[in-house]
Amino acid sequence: MSISIKDVNKSYNDLIVLKDFSLELPEQGIVALSGPSGCGKTTLLRILAGLEKADSGSVHGVDNKRISMVFQEDRLLPWMNLMGNLFAVQPEASVIRYYLECLSLTEYAWSYPHELSGGMQRRAALARSLVYGGDIFILDEPFKGLDQKLRLDIYPHIRDLAVNSLVLLVSHDKEELTALADIIIKLDGPPLSIV
Ligand SMILES: Nc1ncnc2c1ncn2[C@@H]1O[C@H](COP(=O)(O)OP(=O)(O)OP(=O)(O)O)[C@@H](O)[C@H]1O
Ligand SMILES: [Mg+2]
Repeated sequence: MSISIKDVNKSYNDLIVLKDFSLELPEQGIVALSGPSGCGKTTLLRILAGLEKADSGSVHGVDNKRISMVFQEDRLLPWMNLMGNLFAVQPEASVIRYYLECLSLTEYAWSYPHELSGGMQRRAALARSLVYGGDIFILDEPFKGLDQKLRLDIYPHIRDLAVNSLVLLVSHDKEELTALADIIIKLDGPPLSIV
């Protein structure tokens, strides 16, 4: 069954972020969401992930799905090294080793978040989502702060996910959208609308 958002409304005080917003999403592939800062992308993703409650409307097709999220902020646990951060969501060491290597993080496995550069922390947040695994990956600007070489190295692993899962990717980057997205949804708002 595909995933659908139907007639969703969401306001923060006087600000209407979603107004009767509807969207159908496939079960596999990479769907990119692109739109100006503040238009409502993260709000939509948080509602989809069940982290935010809509004022009205419905979300179908996510109840029995495993959702893995890269938040717009890294949100690493500061008191644990990278290995600890990953082990917290994935007990299988071989899976952790695999994705550390994919993201060029192997040599930083025992480093604490504050010892990592901004781009390393971003990759660590992405690594946590990848090792957790899921039916739906919600990636809110996952490549923020990464140089082009790193991005190009990581893209194939994102493509691999999309064979069996839905990857929802927020990106402002044209090259990233062209390289990765099966479907690009251009948005505007608030209230959020499909352009
Ligand atoms: N918890 C909140 N309380 C009040 N206002 C909020 C809250 N979360 C988001 N907003 C407002 O809702 C609007 C949409 O925010 P949202 O974070 O969804 O935008 P976005 O499209 O993800 O932007 P960006 O590209 O900058 O991340 C913004 O005006 C923001 O200030
Ligand atoms: Mg956002």
